[in-house]
Amino acid sequence: MATDHLWKPFDRAHIANPYAMYRKLREEDPVHFSQTGEWIITRYEDTRNILRSSDFLVGNRFEWLKKGIGYFKYKDLDFTNIEAAMKGFILFLNPPHHTRIRKFIHQVWNSRDVAAIIQQNLDTLLPARADSFDLVKDLGKPLPAMTIGKILGLPEEDYLYLKEQGTVMIKALDLYISFKDIMRVNEAAGNFIAYFQKVIEQKKKNPDNGIISRLIELNAQENILDGEELTSTCILLFIAGEETSVSLMSTGLYHLISRQDEWEILRKNPEKIATAIEELLRYDAPVQIVGRIAGKDCEISGKTIKQGDTLTICLGSANRDPEVFDHADEFIMQREPNKHLGFGGGAHYCLGDWLARIQTEMMIRSLLERYQTIEMKDVAPHWNNNLAIRCLTQLPVSIR
Ligand code: HEM
Repeated sequence: MATDHLWKPFDRAHIANPYAMYRKLREEDPVHFSQTGEWIITRYEDTRNILRSSDFLVGNRFEWLKKGIGYFKYKDLDFTNIEAAMKGFILFLNPPHHTRIRKFIHQVWNSRDVAAIIQQNLDTLLPARADSFDLVKDLGKPLPAMTIGKILGLPEEDYLYLKEQGTVMIKALDLYISFKDIMRVNEAAGNFIAYFQKVIEQKKKNPDNGIISRLIELNAQENILDGEELTSTCILLFIAGEETSVSLMSTGLYHLISRQDEWEILRKNPEKIATAIEELLRYDAPVQIVGRIAGKDCEISGKTIKQGDTLTICLGSANRDPEVFDHADEFIMQREPNKHLGFGGGAHYCLGDWLARIQTEMMIRSLLERYQTIEMKDVAPHWNNNLAIRCLTQLPVSIR
């Protein structure tokens, strides 16, 4: 007999639409100890406080994977690629390593001159008109890989391969992952390591003006990262903005195009696109959940959390908290103020927020400028099967 749990991370219906589940949690048990063994945090205040607090650490997914790796090693399977690939992922590191590597990346990760790259990619991807075009498969998916590939200084012919590996590897960021997925992640991790080690060696000999060459050059001067950390940082920069940006662009277009009145407002007032993107990040956050581990015993909204307990923090729910957002379940395109947590908060706040914002804005502008009509062929959204990173799998349209 099925037990009616408040937290249903494996239920397809709730993955497709988690918002009713979040509401019930917020109202009935906002700091909920789940049957899956984690604390589920759903209110805005608690979420923001935890993200900003140094009492909560990252690494629970990494530790968990390491446990899995140890266990499977015992069975003569080798999962060390995952550990090596993620060794320098700042997402999973705490101070002092997090501070050291994040500061290092910041020194070169400040180039705002990406508009020309994005425009060139949009010109390549967007046809003059098309009876059959898929906004996810033909635009949302390839665009971020092409852009980050060029920013990093990678050869164009490699983007498709890297994109495929990235889609597998991003599963490592999911909190609820199967044994089969770990095996696939390990294979992708091995491919990424081999690829970036080769690229780093080539760029040491023939530097260019991409970010990888600049990371290598700075590291040669300051000696901050070891070889594995450098490879790992390149992998993270490629994959962190990949699936997340695909999600914002695809889901965002779905919400805008299915509201033709709003779409026409943007056509007449393109200066409103930036505010609309903030509302998309709030209303249907690409990253729905992040994990933390309690660094010491503490209390959250009256519940005692023990050192070592793991927490699943629902950004997607915090963004719909009516205590903070009026009419929280409504899409209000020009909502202001809008202090959503779509890019997280605190020490791990997203490093690529500016890139995601510019890229999405330029994409929407280009679609509005080029096409008088964009008609959805299938009004029912097709969601992926991933609660952590929510994304559409297809969005077929005709464009004229
Ligand atoms: C719409 C697109 C994006 C969304 C919604 C998003 C969301 C997030 C969130 C929620 C976090 C915090 C994770 C946590 O607290 O555990 C994060 C971290 C991060 N993001 Fe993004 N991201 C996006 C695009 C990008 C892009 C384009 C890049 C650049 C390559 C990027 C690079 C990173 C990195 C490196 C971190 C780790 C920061 C740290 O741990 O200190 N992201 N992102």
